[in-house]
Amino acid sequence: MKRDLVTLLELTREEMLHIIEEATRLKDLQKRGIPHPMLLGKTVALIFEKPSTRTRVSFEVGIAQLGATPIVLRAGEMQLGRGETVEDTGQVLSRYADGIAIRAYSHEAVTSLASAASVPVINMLTDLTHPCQILSDLFTIHERKGAVEGVTVAYVGDGNNVAHSWILAASRLNFTLKLGCPTGYEPSPEIIAEAPKERVTLTHDPKEAVAGADVVYTDVWASMGQEEEAQKRLRDLKDFQVTPSLMALAAKDAVFMHCLPAHRGQEVAAEVMDGPQSIVFDEAENRLHTQKAILAFLLS
Ligand code: CP
Ligand code: NVA
Repeated sequence: MKRDLVTLLELTREEMLHIIEEATRLKDLQKRGIPHPMLLGKTVALIFEKPSTRTRVSFEVGIAQLGATPIVLRAGEMQLGRGETVEDTGQVLSRYADGIAIRAYSHEAVTSLASAASVPVINMLTDLTHPCQILSDLFTIHERKGAVEGVTVAYVGDGNNVAHSWILAASRLNFTLKLGCPTGYEPSPEIIAEAPKERVTLTHDPKEAVAGADVVYTDVWASMGQEEEAQKRLRDLKDFQVTPSLMALAAKDAVFMHCLPAHRGQEVAAEVMDGPQSIVFDEAENRLHTQKAILAFLLS
């Protein structure tokens, strides 16, 4: 039976911990120059409906390092862009490729693709979730703090797709998640319903969210597809910028994380983004190692 990664709810706690361990091992092999062609001869189709820098390059490079071939497809250049259904696309691509990864606007489109495809489907971001990002961030926290379980993560800002995947991760792994989001920008109630109440809290006060946290995390205020709301969001979220004074409320050895791309002067002050607590570029690098672990888990 093939497995997909459409949301983090498809993984157990043990599987998440396994992916983190495997990312650690693959990163070490990569750093030591030891080849690890775990998917030799396989092919993975990567479909992009939205722009991407990190996800696209880290998947392409990671697939090549595993001995497989990536095929990048712009959705607008496929028959998908001319009305072929996502289900037919999934069935056809399954005849050529050993796995399909997709970045799409609609989460339901990815769910439909996964149902129709006979090969594993990986969600590379939808309007609802971003599971590969958060699995990778869990690996980064594991690397920095020695473990994920027991850590306190503060997520400050828009209750968006990235916040949603944080909540779903907390439903599996034993860490504390403190969300600080403005009124009207809270995560979706259906996602909140998955959260264990004893470990996931939501406040409208960014200071309360950050107090004592080991990790302070934020994301853009206007996600892809929300460009028209950008000016309103700047006004509505202005008190949720991660500033040096907000960081000062976190634990002394707290780290700052951001999935990137970042907007200095909006969701994060330049002094924090470029300061000594920021680990955003290690975080970006770890997309490569974690996604290789995810691909090996699902495809080998
Ligand atoms: N963090 C992330 O997914 O970045 P890209 O949009 O550049 O892929
Ligand atoms: N929330 C952002 C994440 C980008 C990686 C977006 O969807 O645009």
